[in-house]
Amino acid sequence: MRVTAAVLYDVKKPVVVEDVELLEPGPHEVQVRWAANGVCHSDLHVITGDSPHPLPVVLGHEAAGVVEKVGPGVETVALGDHVCSSYIPSCGKCWYCIGGQPTMCALRDKPRWFMFDGTPRFRKDGRGLHHYLQVAGYATHSVLPEESVIPIRKDAPLDVVCLVSCGVLAGAGPVFNRAKVPPGASVAVFGCGGVGLNTIQAARLVGAGKIIAVDVMKQKLAWAEEFGATHVVDASQDDPVARIHALSGRGGVDFAFEMVGTQRTMEQALLSTHRGGTCVVVGVSPAGTRLSIDPSLLLQQRVLTGSSFGGGHQRTDVPMLIDLYMSGKYRLDELISRRLPLGELNRAFDLMLQGEVKRSVIVYD
Ligand code: CU
Repeated sequence: MRVTAAVLYDVKKPVVVEDVELLEPGPHEVQVRWAANGVCHSDLHVITGDSPHPLPVVLGHEAAGVVEKVGPGVETVALGDHVCSSYIPSCGKCWYCIGGQPTMCALRDKPRWFMFDGTPRFRKDGRGLHHYLQVAGYATHSVLPEESVIPIRKDAPLDVVCLVSCGVLAGAGPVFNRAKVPPGASVAVFGCGGVGLNTIQAARLVGAGKIIAVDVMKQKLAWAEEFGATHVVDASQDDPVARIHALSGRGGVDFAFEMVGTQRTMEQALLSTHRGGTCVVVGVSPAGTRLSIDPSLLLQQRVLTGSSFGGGHQRTDVPMLIDLYMSGKYRLDELISRRLPLGELNRAFDLMLQGEVKRSVIVYD
């Protein structure tokens, strides 16, 4: 069938919104009609070339929609189900999934730009198109492996909860799953955009004491306060490490979260923890980035770790966060600065680069 998709043909060029051909779902695959897809930095890293990727590719990995076709053998999802995309698949059968680490699923070792049989379902003028992270949410419809969709409740607005399937879980999940922040703990968050605001919000939800937000943009620090930051540090004016040490009252925070993805901010985040503290890296850095740290920081029992897709159980964490939102305990509507049609995707990336939006959402129909 013919569908409309945003295709990236060359790095550093605008994406092209055009009609392409979508083939039928194969065994263990589903076809989803997308309702919405959030605009995330990871797609931009592909456009800029910071995350090298085979081209051409249909981007988008933060999507929600309705299953409209199921291929042979599909067992975990049914026709008409509402789903969020799962840009990290989980098979439920591998050593990682059985061992309780489904965001580390063995399916991650396979090429992530085609279906698991190694072929694409998008075609343009006879040529196959890659599926970004097997989601390809910047399209009116796409075909995905069943392991790449997460069924969700049907009463949740798809143009809001799409955000949960990347930015929201990426930001909130590390608080629950990686750091396991206890009540009263002190937290620093480097980067207060569409992901970091969720770290701040989740820290407030679990009852963190001090929540120190760090950014270089005044607007983002104002958002941070709206979402629960108790203190803000403007890193364009002050040394964030020194400010956090002073604000913590203990020579550093218990937990630091890094959302920016630069060497500098990652090193600052680690340095802002006290002896025995934990630093969780969430920000995606350009290929080739390296850190330089004094190993004595580790001898002082600091933990430096990272997080993939929230670092927990994506198939239960996504519905859990949607439940919290639906019961008024988690703010998602306030994360959405703009809703735009697919034809304005290039503008949506520009707006994100300018730091003018928390999250934009591309909506279909
Ligand atoms: Cu993302």
